[in-house]
Amino acid sequence: MLDEKVIHACQTPAFILDRRDLVTNIRSIQSFAVDGACRTLFALKALTLHETLATTATYFDGFSASSLFEARLAREIGGEQMFLSYISPVLNADEIHEIAALSDSVTLNSLSQFSRFAPDLAQKCQIGLRINPGCSFAADERCDPCRVDSHLGIPSRKLRSVMGQNPDQFNPLSGLHFHSNHRSHDAGQLAMTIRQMEKVLGNDLHQIQWLNVGGGYFFDEHHGNQAAACELQRIRTQYELETFIEPGAAVVSSSGYFVSTVQDLTDGYDCPIATLDLTVNHWPELFEYRIKPLINGTIKNGPDEYLLAGCSCVPGDVFGRHAFAKNLGIGSRIVFPNAGAYSISKSHTFNGINLPNIYVLGDSGELKLVKHFGYEEFAARCGIETRMIV
Ligand SMILES: Cc1ncc(COP(=O)(O)O)c(C=O)c1O
Repeated sequence: MLDEKVIHACQTPAFILDRRDLVTNIRSIQSFAVDGACRTLFALKALTLHETLATTATYFDGFSASSLFEARLAREIGGEQMFLSYISPVLNADEIHEIAALSDSVTLNSLSQFSRFAPDLAQKCQIGLRINPGCSFAADERCDPCRVDSHLGIPSRKLRSVMGQNPDQFNPLSGLHFHSNHRSHDAGQLAMTIRQMEKVLGNDLHQIQWLNVGGGYFFDEHHGNQAAACELQRIRTQYELETFIEPGAAVVSSSGYFVSTVQDLTDGYDCPIATLDLTVNHWPELFEYRIKPLINGTIKNGPDEYLLAGCSCVPGDVFGRHAFAKNLGIGSRIVFPNAGAYSISKSHTFNGINLPNIYVLGDSGELKLVKHFGYEEFAARCGIETRMIV
């Protein structure tokens, strides 16, 4: 929870990363990893701020990157000693040599890429294959990596069958990877997925050295944590595997806040509309997945609801209807907690609306501005150098 002083000290729209909360999340994930005897990688895609990378680098074993730029960033911040796992749906032939040089392991998404790239890449780094274990838990199929027709990974049964037919082809293979869930609070689903994968791949697991079970879990409410940790330990011992988890959202979700200011108040159809200096384009998942965000200071069933609207020209740029303990006025600050994951890393400048200022709230509660975006950055992305403008 941000205190009033912090809320009013920032220049909005603002994204605030609370370092203390970040460290708390990291420690709780580490404690799960100790129980499961697995190594920890931070999935950069959730939030690639310097502070998140530098902090996770001091606690976790490494990073998981999904593009060349993320891989470069991971090495730049983590140094040579951090483990770097690379995984993405395709490898661009122009980039593979640099990616292989940067990474400790590269996980390929298809048998086609495996046969084209693995023999050569295996000289430079460990090679993994992404499997689709076929256990769907995510309610929305847009977020379900195991959906029917998923382009993410090789169905385990298909891999079993090809491995059975031509085992020598898999000599360059060192590990398997799955990422099969979406923001789940029940790690029991991870235990089920491991068992399901083992049922299909069984003895093939003796042929590999590591298993990466991806992210997708919060491990926060302790539902199924023990079952998942036991399965991770068991599979590790039984097949002599090194095991990895690579959470993203669990590390940063609760550590991030958006703070915005009410810029306008007007009559709406049946409730007032408060327009903010924030837009869903700063947090596109709200729009993509139709999520109504949490907002501090709201009350349930209050008499006076406001429709909170964003500042872009998109008709659906709204944050939902909310009743507040105190009436809103122009200048009121609106705080969105739980905004750390996949917000800033997906935010964009549609309409030319600037990105939020980025702050870090330090260990002693001090607020530091770490990034203010300027017109020059916007213009540069449009191919315009500001010195060209007369
Ligand atoms: C391969 C892979 N690993 C890890 C993650 C991190 O997932 P989460 O942020 O849900 O923990 C993702 C997210 O999309 C992913 O695709």
